[in-house]
Amino acid sequence: MTGIDATVLNRLRQAAVEAAGHAYAPYSKFYVGAALLFEDGTVVTGCNVENVSYGLTSCAERNALFRAISERGAGRRIRAIAVANRNSAPSPPCGACRQVMSEFVAPDAVVCFPGDSGEETRPFAEIFPFGFTLEPQP
Ligand code: THU
Repeated sequence: MTGIDATVLNRLRQAAVEAAGHAYAPYSKFYVGAALLFEDGTVVTGCNVENVSYGLTSCAERNALFRAISERGAGRRIRAIAVANRNSAPSPPCGACRQVMSEFVAPDAVVCFPGDSGEETRPFAEIFPFGFTLEPQP
């Protein structure tokens, strides 16, 4: 269905769970991890990092992406994104992270996240239609 081996996706989910173990979330106590699978098979993880000035908090998904680009550049496309939390709660990626991810996902990318009734796996295009794009200005 996703075109990605089920074992590979399960490993990606597990990598997200492990990344959530590094979360710095003393204010919300909501511990999030994300794992990105790139088309070349590499995996990069991130966790949420909060700040006492709450608005400076950075989500797990964006931290994973920025880490990936910082380490290897922006030339790779994301094939799959897994999100997990250590709170046994639903946590689909927030809208801001969807917009940021949208510039780097492969056309057939999928997103795995804890939904309202268990693990969900959805095409990225389904969870983020009508993203903002900017046509070149004259
Ligand atoms: N959070 C993420 O890491 N990813 C999301 O997609 C939504 C929310 C974090 C931010 C904050 O540290 C905590 O979850 C509660 O909002």
